[in-house]
Amino acid sequence: MSRNTPYQPVLLRLLHNAIALLVFAALITGFMVYDRYDKRFGTLNLPIIRDTQGIHGTIALIFLIGLPIFALYCFHIGSRRLVQPPLSHFQEVGKPIWWVAIQRLVNTTILLSGTLAVITGRMMDEEWLPNQDFNHAGYIGHLISWVLMILSIAMHLLMSAKVGGMPLLLSIYSWRIRAEDTPIHWFKSFKIKPSSPILLMMEVLVIGGIAIAFILPAFYSK
Ligand code: HEM
Ligand code: HEM
Repeated sequence: MSRNTPYQPVLLRLLHNAIALLVFAALITGFMVYDRYDKRFGTLNLPIIRDTQGIHGTIALIFLIGLPIFALYCFHIGSRRLVQPPLSHFQEVGKPIWWVAIQRLVNTTILLSGTLAVITGRMMDEEWLPNQDFNHAGYIGHLISWVLMILSIAMHLLMSAKVGGMPLLLSIYSWRIRAEDTPIHWFKSFKIKPSSPILLMMEVLVIGGIAIAFILPAFYSK
């Protein structure tokens, strides 16, 4: 295969695809919880499955544990795929570099939406929805994070398609492994220092937000 075919490092493929699977599972099971109890914004009247909340809670907890690992990869190894200077590229509307800048911004937005989802998810109480108690800030925020997650994934797919077409989209699911892409090389490009102040700010928001999500239940009075 030509050297020009997009190639995604094995570590990125492993972490990205595990996280993507968990996100889709959380989006679906989260919607099932909404569809069973809330229905205020429309319903699909899906068949009722026992303990939907428990299933969602378990998938969501694995997502909460996996997200910081993926985020650390993104900020310290894969940071060229996230937002970065010069921000003047955002003014070059319509040029190829503008689309790349938007794609990187969208990749960063996904991490922020995931962070909002875990913070608000940790504010949720499993008693609220069965008791028709829908007006808690944590629940409204959790619903908003669901919408943001869907929008940012849609943009992620559109922008990746625009920048690299089908070959780029499919590269994340490719089984091809370069001879030099072995575990001892995976961390060679690890950079402790974020490559720009804007990335540092994003990392503080994402990693700080996830840390808050972990300790939140201890402080949040439901
Ligand atoms: C309509 C959408 C959603 C609804 C109605 C919903 C509902 C809930 C409920 C009821 C809980 C509490 C479960 C429990 O305590 O056992 C919860 C927790 C959680 N949710 Fe969601 N959710 C939605 C979407 C999402 C999405 C898209 C994500 C992440 C991508 C997510 C991540 C979480 C997390 C991390 C928790 C905390 C789990 C824990 O502490 O064990 N949720 N959600
Ligand atoms: C069918 C679904 C998906 C496809 C086809 C896909 C495809 C891709 C591709 C091709 C890249 C590499 C872009 C590049 O090299 O410039 C990428 C990166 C990325 N994707 Fe996805 N993606 C999907 C779902 C998701 C989901 C659900 C998330 C949510 C967590 C996500 C988060 C990211 C992030 C944060 C990056 C940047 C990684 C880095 O900084 O190294 N993707 N995706």
